[in-house]
Amino acid sequence: MAEIAVGIDLGTSNTCVSLMRDGKVQVLDNVFGERTSASVVHFHEDGSVEVGNSAKAKVIHAPAQTVSSAKRLIGRYYFSEEVKKAQAIYAYEIVEAPNHGVRIEIRGEEFSLPEISAMVLREMKQIAERHTGEKVTKAVITVPAYFNDNQRQATKDAGRIAGLEVLRILNEPTAAALAYGFGMGLNQRVAVYDLGGGTFDISVLEIGKDIFEVLATCGDTFLGGDDFDDRVMDLLADEFVAKYGINPRNDVYAYERLKLAAENAKKQLSVDEQVLVSIEEVMVGKDGAPMGLERTISREEFAQLTQDLIMRTFKVCDEALQQSDLTVRDLDGVILVGGPTRLPIIREAVTHYFQQEPRVDVDPDEVVSMGAAIHAASLVGEAQDSMLLDVTPLDLRIGVAGGLAEPVIERNTPVPIEQTRTFTTVQDHQESVRIKVYQGDHRQAEENALLGQFEFSGFEKGLRADVKIDVTFEIDADGIVNVTASDQATGQAASTQITLSSGLDEDQIEQIVEQDVAGRVETATSAGATKGAGDGDVPIFDDGQNDLIDLGDAEGADELELLEDDELIRLSVEADDANQDITLDCPVTEAANDDLEDDGFFDTSGGDLSEPEIELIDEEK
Ligand SMILES: Nc1ncnc2c1ncn2[C@@H]1O[C@H](COP(=O)(O)OP(=O)(O)OP(=O)(O)O)[C@@H](O)[C@H]1O
Ligand SMILES: [Mg+2]
Repeated sequence: MAEIAVGIDLGTSNTCVSLMRDGKVQVLDNVFGERTSASVVHFHEDGSVEVGNSAKAKVIHAPAQTVSSAKRLIGRYYFSEEVKKAQAIYAYEIVEAPNHGVRIEIRGEEFSLPEISAMVLREMKQIAERHTGEKVTKAVITVPAYFNDNQRQATKDAGRIAGLEVLRILNEPTAAALAYGFGMGLNQRVAVYDLGGGTFDISVLEIGKDIFEVLATCGDTFLGGDDFDDRVMDLLADEFVAKYGINPRNDVYAYERLKLAAENAKKQLSVDEQVLVSIEEVMVGKDGAPMGLERTISREEFAQLTQDLIMRTFKVCDEALQQSDLTVRDLDGVILVGGPTRLPIIREAVTHYFQQEPRVDVDPDEVVSMGAAIHAASLVGEAQDSMLLDVTPLDLRIGVAGGLAEPVIERNTPVPIEQTRTFTTVQDHQESVRIKVYQGDHRQAEENALLGQFEFSGFEKGLRADVKIDVTFEIDADGIVNVTASDQATGQAASTQITLSSGLDEDQIEQIVEQDVAGRVETATSAGATKGAGDGDVPIFDDGQNDLIDLGDAEGADELELLEDDELIRLSVEADDANQDITLDCPVTEAANDDLEDDGFFDTSGGDLSEPEIELIDEEK
């Protein structure tokens, strides 16, 4: 019998697990019969953890102990916009980890984002084990196509912490297309319009017999159903202020109540023309009397409130079509993914934009996990293999002088891909270089995600033009980036491979796995019995071990130059102490910390130009 491998759509708001067996894909429900579970983790006083829709309900009474939307934070730096935004919205405490990582602090204990997501994944693993009666240890996990390397790596780590071997990180739209077209022998071009809780993605795919080729993918990681809730929430909050003269946004409990009411009202508008929001008690007044709120919202009013959000999705669609050299007339189908696509105003707008009715035969909440299950089954030999040809959604860049970043691998390039460029020292007898790798579409280095940087030394010293260092950028099928540097003269001796950061290093992950942090998740099957409950003294992972390797005092900031079409582009690569081993630091090196300027961004300008320099000879391979 083939091994069991499940497909998991780890969503910002909801998570869904599916399994393909005997040629059929089944969405696995939890003990309550729910086919999706809220991606919410609630921490009980005894240290045990509850996951899912029941955990989501706890947010009203214990908002600071209930973590939602972890996916918005995973793989991000503490100083990023998204983290600031989350701090303003969520009642749980978001704190800074060493090296600008993010941790969630609950009752004095700190958890990394992969640990939080691992708890949600553990719940899915338990659901699958209940259905199969067997241990489930393998999974394909989906991520938004627009996730960068840090976010993918962190998601993979979450799987590992949950006790799952992650067979593949699969892009959500590719999974959706797979669920839609698997085994159908289609020959179509389709668009996958995915509006989820926190992100919007659009992908254009070509589906042939057993081949799923992504032509282009574009997205907005700051746009989702939550933003629609915020609009309704603002309406309700303003109404409350007008009625009582008190701002309910300043009270965490009142805020959560309004937020939940806003979300429910939005969902109801998928079914009804208008909805009556009636909250008996938003807050309690000084006299102890409840202060309630009643407000009717019509579809029309909701449409006005959210029009600009919907229009923003089509700007991204324009971009994707342009990148794939197609117009809406070239498309044979539009697949809807994500809860908000149930809203009639969105379906109407999508129909109008694409000039065709979207497909309604695939469930927008389940289609991604079903596709992941199909792919998982093919990876363990349970289903026939399909060829998935994906693209990288973001440019891979190297920092250059003037705070700029030059692309090395351009977005929408098919993956896997490998690209090599050759460097040489600028100064005679120069000893080392440091290379900064970015992912993103911006020319300004600081607006991209810094994936990591590494020190390369130990190569044979020589005259400037004689030293040749090959730097290879590789994006694997998971969309994960590897960078290798090697010295042409000494070959292996001076080469290293780096896997870029996830926020946790290997030792930390092993430590977390050993402590079985995900084991705190209560098994709903045993009616509240807590597996691992009571071991609430899991140490905080800030034990100094995650301090990054010190690259030593820079003896001088060397510059690296790229000779491209006979044109010199100065790269911001700095030389450090040559005696240091080659290192990669995750997520950000201490040396990078020194570069961290007051505004929270990295200076990539490379320091004093009068110092020794290094050149990059562009010998593409
Ligand atoms: N019937 C409905 N009508 C309107 N919105 C809905 C409905 N059901 C769910 N939603 C909204 O869908 C959003 C969650 O969507 P979904 O579960 O697809 O997101 P996700 O997969 O968790 O997120 P992402 O894909 O961005 O990671 C929430 O904002 C929720 O309020
Ligand atoms: Mg989703």
